[in-house]
Amino acid sequence: MFRTPEFSHLSHDDYKHVYEPAEDTFLMLDAIEKEYESLRELRPTVCVEVGCGSGIVITFLASLFKHAAFCMATDINKTAASAAKKTSEQNGVIVDTMVTDLVKCLQPRLNGLVDVLIFNPPYVVTPNEEVGSQGIEASWAGGDNGRQVMDRIFPLVSDLLSKRGVFYLVIIKENKQDEIEEIMKSHGFSMTVVITRRSGPERLSVLKFTKVDTVT
Ligand SMILES: C[S@@+](CC[C@H](N)C(=O)[O-])C[C@H]1O[C@@H](n2cnc3c(N)ncnc32)[C@H](O)[C@@H]1O
Repeated sequence: MFRTPEFSHLSHDDYKHVYEPAEDTFLMLDAIEKEYESLRELRPTVCVEVGCGSGIVITFLASLFKHAAFCMATDINKTAASAAKKTSEQNGVIVDTMVTDLVKCLQPRLNGLVDVLIFNPPYVVTPNEEVGSQGIEASWAGGDNGRQVMDRIFPLVSDLLSKRGVFYLVIIKENKQDEIEEIMKSHGFSMTVVITRRSGPERLSVLKFTKVDTVT
């Protein structure tokens, strides 16, 4: 229904340093498209993508809510932050990109203001020693259960989100969806599965979290 953002300005060489859009990326785009009506009703004014990589996801969101939403993106990898900026410009939308760990530079100033929060995290199960890079390895290395990075954002989401805000997260089966649901429940969220797809050996899902007293 909606056009996938243009990203032909990124070359094979760029993808040595920045995550190349893949099945997980496109699953998130499909999830956003599926959620479009509910997002439109939410009338988001502040959208944030954590770990933006090429920037294709936040650019997609920015193009859906052009001029109405302030869109920001973070990445631990500075080459990714620059690539995402370029992707937004290439597609005629404005996205502010920041190099930071998760949402560190946004808190506490943006607390209670974020309407849409998105994270396609490094979810691959790897040795814990591989976690913590600021280069291309940060795109996939998830440590134990593939959860070492995503687990750190869970306690931050409640403060960051507006009352009716939503959080979308990509996971694979090995990340243990039931455990994630319990953790987020303890932070006051309910969870639904927006979309699930098998891609090679991976079973990918996009989860949606909303504050319990504002489920729509
Ligand atoms: C699986 S890639 C997803 C990239 C892009 N969002 C997409 O869907 O194609 C994960 C991204 O998270 C970034 N990342 C990893 N750890 C991070 C952290 N602690 N803070 C911010 N970004 C991080 C990586 O650099 C990478 O760009």
